[in-house]
Amino acid sequence: MVILEAKEIEVSYYGDISILQGVNLSAEVSKITAIIGPNGAGKSTLLKTLCGFLKPKKGKVFLRGREITGVQPHTLMSMGLSYIPQYNSLFPDLTVKENLELGAWTFRKDHKRIRDGIEKVFQRYPFLKEKASTKTTKLSGGQQRILELGRTLMGSPEVLLLDEITAMIAPIVAKEIYQDIENLSKEKITVVMVDQNVRQVIEISDYIFILELGKNKVSGTKEEFSGRLKDVIQDWLVYENV
Ligand SMILES: Nc1ncnc2c1ncn2[C@@H]1O[C@H](COP(=O)(O)OP(=O)(O)OP(=O)(O)O)[C@@H](O)[C@H]1O
Ligand SMILES: [Mg+2]
Repeated sequence: MVILEAKEIEVSYYGDISILQGVNLSAEVSKITAIIGPNGAGKSTLLKTLCGFLKPKKGKVFLRGREITGVQPHTLMSMGLSYIPQYNSLFPDLTVKENLELGAWTFRKDHKRIRDGIEKVFQRYPFLKEKASTKTTKLSGGQQRILELGRTLMGSPEVLLLDEITAMIAPIVAKEIYQDIENLSKEKITVVMVDQNVRQVIEISDYIFILELGKNKVSGTKEEFSGRLKDVIQDWLVYENV
């Protein structure tokens, strides 16, 4: 069943130049959908449009069949759609626990839910419990990304949009994050992720969308991609060694 769908999305930052030019995407419930493409293809722009940070000038977004185009991010969060941006969004002066508490902002009066949520995050990522009182800037890059995941899970999302959650972090931590994402999908969370580690992300994904210059290039299941990945992306210099 499709839970999140974008149809013919057109987005401009200013003037007449459309960054996304009629992009389509659909994500099946509790599956992992990957969006890959070269730098500047519009991947982040697409995620920001899905989660309400950008309003498309044309096209529509649907969540569980209901149109959500232009709905504000905090409203979408309470509808079960959460987003982790490409660049660190933690509050650097706050501790690990305080950042987790801020993930519970939408239900901030429900203290029991906050306590239970934090306990669940600590069980999932035990190192966060040890570092509960540590300022986030003292964590490694990978640990900070895991904290962002934990903070987002505080809101009990059904659909999680992840923009390059594994970028610039140690490969061993990236591996843990990929495993965690697979587990999240087994726990019925739908994941839509942009990722530059093409090989690894395809490995864990059920469905793949390739964007180039603001348009869909190809899309298909992992099986459909195996064997022809090299053809599809050979002209992206950054992926020379794929
Ligand atoms: N706030 C902005 N204002 C104007 N143009 C922007 C803005 N953000 C992105 N762009 C432009 O939109 C295009 C798509 O950018 P976007 O960040 O969506 O690409 P991307 O596929 O996520 O790239 P990357 O792999 O580098 O993260 C680029 O040409 C970029 O310069
Ligand atoms: Mg991006």
